[in-house]
Amino acid sequence: MLKEKKIIMGISGGIAAYKSCEIVRRLKKLGAQVIVVMTENAQKFITPLTLETLSENEVVTEMFPEKKVVGVRHVNLAQWADLILIAPATANMVGKIRAGIADDILTTVVISTKSPVLIAPSMNVNMWENPIFQENMEFLKNKGYMFIEPETGDLACGTGKGRLPEPETIVKQVVRLSTGKKDLEGKSILVTAGRTQEPLDPVRYLSNRSSGKTGYAIAEAAQKRGAKVTLISGPSDLRVPAEVNFIRVEKAKEMYSAVRSHFDKADALIMAAAVSDFVPSMVSQDKIKRKEEEILLKLKPSLDILKEMGKRKKKKILVGFSLETEDEIKNSKRKLVEKNLDLIVANNPNVPGAGFEVDTNQVILIDRRGRTEKLPLLLKKEVAEKVLDKVSALLKKARRG
Ligand SMILES: Cc1cc2nc3c(=O)[nH]c(=O)nc-3n(C[C@H](O)[C@H](O)[C@H](O)COP(=O)(O)O)c2cc1C
Repeated sequence: MLKEKKIIMGISGGIAAYKSCEIVRRLKKLGAQVIVVMTENAQKFITPLTLETLSENEVVTEMFPEKKVVGVRHVNLAQWADLILIAPATANMVGKIRAGIADDILTTVVISTKSPVLIAPSMNVNMWENPIFQENMEFLKNKGYMFIEPETGDLACGTGKGRLPEPETIVKQVVRLSTGKKDLEGKSILVTAGRTQEPLDPVRYLSNRSSGKTGYAIAEAAQKRGAKVTLISGPSDLRVPAEVNFIRVEKAKEMYSAVRSHFDKADALIMAAAVSDFVPSMVSQDKIKRKEEEILLKLKPSLDILKEMGKRKKKKILVGFSLETEDEIKNSKRKLVEKNLDLIVANNPNVPGAGFEVDTNQVILIDRRGRTEKLPLLLKKEVAEKVLDKVSALLKKARRG
């Protein structure tokens, strides 16, 4: 199942380090090539010899080994890996990755890689609940690092959340990540994400709260499913997914130009960006001065990118997002027709668990025939996969028709 997959198994100094032996054994049994990279503290819990025997590879423990190694080892390892798994990951390890610290071989490999990184934290419940640790984890999730949640149960000291899941569960996750569908192979997909910023004067702008999480998740998932992806993004702090053609824009007008120049080569356009509907009629060259009286901001409608692309879509698949706080199905259906879309993803930020800053969303998928599918509350990454399932089916249908 994991034949030809190259996995770096990172181990840090937690009590659950003993479970890493079983993880390595299972990965090997499924055909993966495994190189174990251990921190100095991990070696206090478990010996490299055991892992060397199980992985059938030299275990990497040092940044500057005495025995000369040809090439720059951390870079080679970082490029070699299809996936980096860290299990167990200590609170210290998560904190160091978040801070961009690279003071040993494992953290240096992690900072040097473009491959997916899957982190399985395990620790005492108080460490797990510590807001600094939680914030570190959230930060990394937003940058595209993936986490396996620990389980609740007996810990080395007391009970609570923090126990490393069983090796079987961790390996299942690795298999799921490594053997994903390749149903978008050969397709070119254009994705827009994030918000636009419309200057009012040299220091102020008009914008919205879109984080770009869904669009980035779509771009990343489409790339993993084999598509050639171009991601056009407004300002966002998110990590750019590996191996996508990334174009950064600011204003709605720039997003329009970027979409137009990449549209012809695309098989599908997924417009997840929250483009300003209105832009200032005039941009002041100088900072608008504070006054005692009211000032009137004059806005004009921006170019409707989707509608423009809808006019020239031919056999391309067009997907729009519709953010509505009332009558979402009715309004979204109207947009779908007006803009000549194949699919519209309707969402309401007022639904609990939906919205901008959170990692989850509840959406309704509406197709050209007016069929609606209300999805449960899902992670934005899961919403991305669902949208791509539809796009994949539509692309297949377009080829047949
Ligand atoms: C017996 C023992 C068990 C430990 N277990 C854990 C653990 O499960 N999770 C954790 O985050 N830290 C644990 N620690 C603390 C880490 O070993 C410590 O933070 C260390 O600096 C981690 O180093 P590393 O991340 O470079 O491997 C434990 C320490 C000891 C002495």
